[in-house]
Amino acid sequence: MQVPFFDWKSLYFEKEEEFSKIISTTLKKGAFILQSDVSDFENKLRDFLSVKHVVAVADGTNAILLGLRASGVGKEDEVILPSHSFIAAAQSIYHSGARPVPVEMSEYDWLVSTEAIEAAITKKTVGIMPVHVNGRCCQMDKILDIAERYKLKIFEDSAQAMGAKYDGLCAGTIGEWGTYSFYPSKTLGSFGDAGALVTNCDEIYEKVLAMRNHGADENKTIPLETNIWGTNCRLDNVQAAILSFKMEYYTEVIERRRQIAQAYHDTLNKYSDVRLPPAPSDSGKNFDIFQNYEFCTAKRDDLRKFLGDNGVGTIVQWGGFGVHMLENLGMKADLPITDKFFKESLLLPLNHVMTNPQIEYVCQLLDKFFSGDLNG
Ligand SMILES: Cc1ncc(COP(=O)(O)O)c(C=O)c1O
Repeated sequence: MQVPFFDWKSLYFEKEEEFSKIISTTLKKGAFILQSDVSDFENKLRDFLSVKHVVAVADGTNAILLGLRASGVGKEDEVILPSHSFIAAAQSIYHSGARPVPVEMSEYDWLVSTEAIEAAITKKTVGIMPVHVNGRCCQMDKILDIAERYKLKIFEDSAQAMGAKYDGLCAGTIGEWGTYSFYPSKTLGSFGDAGALVTNCDEIYEKVLAMRNHGADENKTIPLETNIWGTNCRLDNVQAAILSFKMEYYTEVIERRRQIAQAYHDTLNKYSDVRLPPAPSDSGKNFDIFQNYEFCTAKRDDLRKFLGDNGVGTIVQWGGFGVHMLENLGMKADLPITDKFFKESLLLPLNHVMTNPQIEYVCQLLDKFFSGDLNG
């Protein structure tokens, strides 16, 4: 049996008829840019997340950049983020003019360590960027407490956590603003690039709304008196229409992902030589959506080979490095927990189009490998 890490084509064939119809209907009505499909999607997302404002944008990376600029982050500022994160967040901080300061992860959930955040605060720090990696929220109560004590803003990179919750609140809706990516492999994926920024703050909303379209106002014209340096960061209509449709069954997608994560947990939890993320069934204040199932084992490379030889694709997230290892980009830091993590971490295949026999097959192989019964 083959279980590719990601079966890209299945994302389309999953509901081919519906998707083709949506694409042709959108094109036939000549709706390409900033037409009602975009606002329909924004409204659906707003209701789903229980947040005041949503701005759909071109992608998750630029959503972060627009948010930082709307919050006034710039030259001489520092923003703290976990090293266990995609480079996109650090890049957007850099492009805002500020300095990204990568810090250590917590050994409990591999998300940003709140002690490390506090230790990294300087006079230049203006914000904390929790990155809700793998679809699990960082410890937001502690981060909110730090932000309040040091008068810092919180910017949530929720690219991997659309619909994840902390204490009942959705990832992205807790800080000054939050962002999502709808890259095809994301839990809510478009058929190209797409993203969104969400906020409960009217001022941030007004600014980002204008910025995504060159500073244009609600009449789609740029006022002569504009004081906004905008850009082109628009989400196109076809992607918005697809995302709107996918929102209708998104809750089921999350439930399926949680089931698969639980199956992996139940299989791996029997063995002593693995370190696992918190199980879906045992998440305390968190509700996790499992963008990825990432776990650690000292036998990572052997396991990867064994699974590969048996038709199962795996990935080492972000090529196996945290952003603090990008020395030439000036982000070098001494983060031994993150260093060890990246030597041992592995992503198993996990998406809602996987079949039950595929999931069982992966679990059987994991059992064989960790029980030492490789020929059984
Ligand atoms: C944690 C994280 N942040 C930001 C991004 C960037 O999103 P996009 O690819 O839509 O620009 C990603 C996407 O992979 C991500 O995983």
